[in-house]
Amino acid sequence: MPLKDVRTMLITGAAGGIGRATVQVFANAGWWVIGVDRAEFDFIGQLEPFPAHGLFIKADISEPDQLQSIYEKVYDFSPSLDAIVNNAAVQISKPLIETTVEEWDAVMASNLRSVFLGAKLAYPLLKNSGNGAIVNVSSVHAVATSMNISAYAASKGGLLALTRAMAIEFATDNIRVNAVLPGAVDTPMLRAGLERGHLGGITVHDRLENLARKTVNGRVGTPEEIAHTIYFLADNNQSSFITGQALIVDGGATARLSTE
Ligand code: NAI
Repeated sequence: MPLKDVRTMLITGAAGGIGRATVQVFANAGWWVIGVDRAEFDFIGQLEPFPAHGLFIKADISEPDQLQSIYEKVYDFSPSLDAIVNNAAVQISKPLIETTVEEWDAVMASNLRSVFLGAKLAYPLLKNSGNGAIVNVSSVHAVATSMNISAYAASKGGLLALTRAMAIEFATDNIRVNAVLPGAVDTPMLRAGLERGHLGGITVHDRLENLARKTVNGRVGTPEEIAHTIYFLADNNQSSFITGQALIVDGGATARLSTE
């Protein structure tokens, strides 16, 4: 169990690109971290093991029964949660008319339903913290999107609406709820999407260069840059008057007129 005065957070998708960076940022700041992922966290070639004071739970958040058992372990680990970061997501890149009901439902179950069910289970723990925070990792696809990614874009748009709804309903218990909308960030998900080619181009390297040119900063983002934004929104010492908001972190990509 975490020591008194040590803050505790839970992050889904902890074994992915942004997830791993976020685990490190919180652990380095002295938080106790609970990571959830259906993939292993520790594997050969991975430099950073899961933090010693934390808890890693291998489970699939798209399954309501597994979410329930995740929270049974969380309740055993800590009497309160200061933050949860809903970061896990899957992406399907294919035309809408070829997307099956099963694929649509799988995207919604991982990206959106898990946040709703997870919030219900986490609510008493966040309330116990006295100033809990939820950070939902949405995407720029919630506000502008591209070909062949409709289920993912719809899930991320829904997550933005859910962020506002939760911020309003949870405010009475001093729980803040915000969303981070990353643009292109160099992670396994981005590279897998580029390999599937929903953005056009030739090699993955060319496609990454193409994405970089579309930003004002002239490059794609790093997982650490998203992790620090998540930390800012989770940390009540820094963002106590921010709730119900959507913070775009995209190197300025959505700031530039597409007709320029
Ligand atoms: P990633 O693919 O590297 O990591 C996602 C992690 O979530 C994986 O470890 C995967 O195993 C886990 N996961 C997925 N579904 C799960 C489930 N049902 N149960 C348990 N674990 C599950 O992806 P990345 O890039 O780190 O993405 C993190 C978040 O950032 C996602 O919400 C993604 O939509 C968002 N994002 C990423 C962008 C990018 O360019 N990389 C851009 C915009 C948003």
